[in-house]
Amino acid sequence: MLRRYVGFVKGVSVNRLGKAGVVLTTSSLVTFVLLELARAAGAFTNAYGGLITYLTLPLLFVIGLVLLPIAWVRQKKATGLSTPELIERQFSPAEKRLPFYQSPLLMSILGLTALNVVFLVGASSRMLSFMDTPHFCGTACHSVMHPEWVTYQDSPHARVQCVDCHVGQGIEAIIDSKLNGMWQIISVTFGLYEKPIPTPVRQLRPAQETCEQCHWPSKFYGQRLKEIVRYDTDSASTPLYTTLALKVDAGAVPHESGIHWHIAEHNEVRYVSVNDDREVMIWVEMLQPDGSYKRFVNEDLDMTVMSDVSDAYRVLDCVDCHNRATHVYENPETAVDARMRKGLIPRDLPYVKREALKAVSQEYPDSATAMRGIEEHIQQFYRSEYDSLALVRQAAIDSAVAGAKHAYRRNVHHAMNVRWNTYLNHIGHEDDGGCFRCHNESLVAADGETISTDCSVCHEFATYESAEPFEFGGLWGSSKAEYAAIQPVSAH
Ligand code: HEC
Ligand code: HEC
Ligand code: HEC
Ligand code: HEC
Ligand code: HEC
Repeated sequence: MLRRYVGFVKGVSVNRLGKAGVVLTTSSLVTFVLLELARAAGAFTNAYGGLITYLTLPLLFVIGLVLLPIAWVRQKKATGLSTPELIERQFSPAEKRLPFYQSPLLMSILGLTALNVVFLVGASSRMLSFMDTPHFCGTACHSVMHPEWVTYQDSPHARVQCVDCHVGQGIEAIIDSKLNGMWQIISVTFGLYEKPIPTPVRQLRPAQETCEQCHWPSKFYGQRLKEIVRYDTDSASTPLYTTLALKVDAGAVPHESGIHWHIAEHNEVRYVSVNDDREVMIWVEMLQPDGSYKRFVNEDLDMTVMSDVSDAYRVLDCVDCHNRATHVYENPETAVDARMRKGLIPRDLPYVKREALKAVSQEYPDSATAMRGIEEHIQQFYRSEYDSLALVRQAAIDSAVAGAKHAYRRNVHHAMNVRWNTYLNHIGHEDDGGCFRCHNESLVAADGETISTDCSVCHEFATYESAEPFEFGGLWGSSKAEYAAIQPVSAH
């Protein structure tokens, strides 16, 4: 077998070019197999390793293959021999045994061609699926996807592939994304991309093809309890517990309709926004039972100065509210609070919330300066205000510094011009954004009605900035004492 291969290889290596072709194909095939084995054994998982195995090696392999006929033709020209004469010269009589269709030569050609096809099909399908892994999307282009990669890994969708949301199902989606991917490779190579990467993402597939593969409207019912813990800026950094009962119902039962009413079957909300950036609404429409649309028009906008208001509306879907389902950026306050809650920033240091917040909220020119600035601010505060404390609690102070740095690094990415709040979250109503883009007094219908701003349409408060967390035992808002009073007396 090996002897036959060597004989064949010698035969096709008609000149230097032919030899180069043989060396290239053989060595890239062998390297590919070795790297695949190493990968299977878990020896390397790096995205660049993947690029080499799945992109570069098959490419070298094909180049090697192409060199062979070129070498053959050039040799014919150089020697003036015809193809049969060249075969006659290159291969031993044993290989050319007649008839041709039974000859070892033909067997070698067929065998190797089959091997080539298997290799190329296998390699390209491995390449396509490799290019779908989050690790590839998140790390192959260096710093470009860094903010998205960092926020993704720390999100409820950390186990969902990027392509499940960004590409979706079906052949059309796949072709779309590969074309788009080519453009991305070009734009990264030549630095043509925007920093930060703009959002909304226009090419995002419809939610029916992405989100709804895993979450579907009829699944939303009842209320969802959400506890939000904030810390005051006083010396004790007092915790403030807000517990919301979010009415997430999609309204399968008519009188229980709630937040997911917008996307329930038979309902439709659509809108046109200024610059199509989905922030300031020009008008909003809702489908009514009779099939007509009720339109709410933004009375704050002077429509006479708004030139080209297109009627190209967008139908509201998951991503209009859940625009930060995965790339969840925190604001400085949420970031510090979250780390205090996890104990990364020790709450028993005086004024730690206030000082950590000050340290991370400052404007820094780059990441290294930020790390130094945060460290200096916090250390300096305790040295000058609490110098005796600095002696005994140095470890806690260091951990506050580390927690604050972590908060900054997680959310601010200088290389991509991503700062605190570059990417706004639409899920609540901070700074009158989010739900209040539509639920406000400015959007008015012909009959004078507006879209509700009544707090209890969306949520009830179980506790509001309370010093005590909400307790399930304390039903109906009764105090602990009242609750104890209605307990049956147990026999001691
Ligand atoms: C659960 C779904 C989901 C997953 C998984 C996901 N994304 Fe996104 N991504 C979104 C949504 C939603 C947006 C915002 C779209 C909008 O507002 O129009 C977005 C936006 C982006 C943006 C634009 C910048 C921004 O933050 O708005 C980039 C770049 C991006 N994603 C890359 C990735 C990469 C890389 C991965 C995998 C590591 C990934 N995404 C995984 C849903 C997802
Ligand atoms: C491949 C499946 C999959 C896809 C696609 C997907 N999700 Fe999820 N989603 C999940 C899983 C798994 C969780 C985590 C559930 C958990 O932690 O209990 C989740 C959690 C969530 C949560 C709850 C987060 C929380 O705080 O508990 C929201 C909101 C959400 N997804 C919205 C979306 C949106 C919007 C999209 C489309 C842009 C989407 N998902 C696409 C699987 C998916
Ligand atoms: C009108 C805004 C809006 C739209 C549209 C919307 N959601 Fe939500 N969704 C919310 C809010 C608000 C919550 C509760 C807040 C939270 O969990 O942080 C929520 C909660 C969720 C949760 C967690 C709920 C639970 O029961 O645990 C999931 C999952 C989710 N949404 C997925 C989706 C998907 C998928 C779509 C599209 C089919 C969608 N949402 C459309 C606003 C919306
Ligand atoms: C694009 C505009 C738009 C956005 C954004 C929007 N809503 Fe709405 N919402 C509407 C319209 C229109 C109605 C119907 C008003 C009416 O019935 O008069 C509505 C109705 C509702 C209702 C009442 C549903 C029912 O039972 O009839 C709830 C609850 C609600 N929205 C919650 C939210 C929440 C929470 C958010 C933010 C996460 C949000 N909405 C964002 C347009 C919007
Ligand atoms: C259109 C729906 C809607 C209306 C109306 C609404 N809210 Fe909210 N509210 C939300 C949603 C959604 C959240 C975010 C929940 C989350 O963080 O996931 C929220 C969050 C909050 C929070 C917690 C903020 C935080 O993170 O600390 C407070 C406090 C709050 N709302 C107060 C109010 C008050 C007061 C009103 C009435 C003036 C009101 N809301 C009206 C939907 C609404």
